[in-house]
Amino acid sequence: MAAGRLLLIPDGPASLLYATELVNQLRRRGYSLQVAPTAYDGPSATAFVSELAWATLSGHPCRAIESLDEAAFREQDLILLGPVSPRVFSIFCQGKALSYLQAAGRPVLAILPQLFPDEPLPHKEGGSFAQLMPPGSRLLTGSVPHGLGALGNLLLPSFEEVLAQVDSLLAPQDYAGKKVLITAGPTAEDLDPVRFLTNRSTGKMGFALARDAALRGAQVLLVHGPVALPAPRLPRLTPLPVRSATQMHQAVMDHWQEQDLAILAAAVADFQPLHCAETKIKKGEAQELSLPLKRTPDILATLGALPHRPFLVGFAAESDDVEANAQLKLRKKHCDLICANDVRKPGCGFATDTNQVTILAPDAPPLHLPLKSKEEVAHSILSEILRRL
Ligand code: CTP
Repeated sequence: MAAGRLLLIPDGPASLLYATELVNQLRRRGYSLQVAPTAYDGPSATAFVSELAWATLSGHPCRAIESLDEAAFREQDLILLGPVSPRVFSIFCQGKALSYLQAAGRPVLAILPQLFPDEPLPHKEGGSFAQLMPPGSRLLTGSVPHGLGALGNLLLPSFEEVLAQVDSLLAPQDYAGKKVLITAGPTAEDLDPVRFLTNRSTGKMGFALARDAALRGAQVLLVHGPVALPAPRLPRLTPLPVRSATQMHQAVMDHWQEQDLAILAAAVADFQPLHCAETKIKKGEAQELSLPLKRTPDILATLGALPHRPFLVGFAAESDDVEANAQLKLRKKHCDLICANDVRKPGCGFATDTNQVTILAPDAPPLHLPLKSKEEVAHSILSEILRRL
């Protein structure tokens, strides 16, 4: 779960459907949230959504904008201005709020709707909105149409973009400067132009690792097989989609030398068809079909055998004798760590949102992590790796 205290200052009609949903999503993610809605004669946040509704949604009593002094801003980890309107800008510039905000020095994330093409945010003497925000602040402009009922559409950033920005502003930057390669998802081994062999992996665990590492400052190369999940869109994260085990192996071989760390979370097919038919295999009169298969390259073992390899972390998906089998893989593939999970346990393994892993190292007792969301498991794994890097 993400942690941090946020103050949201919403304004205007986008409060109605956009900012209220943003409050829900931020709370669901684990942030503690207080709202200071605008309240003036006109299309203010409280004209669209009552103070009681904001307090109920956020779980905290509302703050009045006029009561926000330097200490109130300093208490927060992040101030979320959004969506920003010329009205909010003038509220900030007229009273002392702007000087308090600047003095508190907390980062601001301002959500700018694309509503005012002809009405740009005003410039106060001494600078534009962006220049007046404390250092480290970010402006996020809208590009996705959000329907506001009878009020029409407003271009606003997607919730995913806002959450990613909030997460990255608040995440510890303990991976800054590190280069990390992650493999994720299944591979697909083609039999003919329409058929292939694959497995149940969805890529969730590997994607969670990539996201968390990028948020913590790492430069991440995410080599992933065919998945339905969209790859995380974050600064410093480069997705590299591949299809087969051979392609994944090649992509890793092309890039391992630049990396400080490689985490191989992909469920790589162990076998591929000996030949991929050029045309669709016809059943004809056959009642049985045998497919000759050959071994795929073992990416983890290949990296483990290299003399100057990056810090190497593998995964072991097991259905029996979990620790013993994982220990065997750890030694056989020469990893620094291996994360073992029991795919038969409820809430673990493929296609679930949670996981329970045991981290094994050659020189330390097993570390049993509790059953947690894959995001939290990813965070714990990366913290454990960092202690050893
Ligand atoms: N792995 C890999 N290349 C392969 C097979 C596996 O890099 N061709 C990696 C996986 O990404 C994982 C680890 O090896 O980090 C263990 O994968 P797993 O499927 O649990 O084990 P296997 O080595 O395939 O052994 P088995 O299927 O016999 O349990």
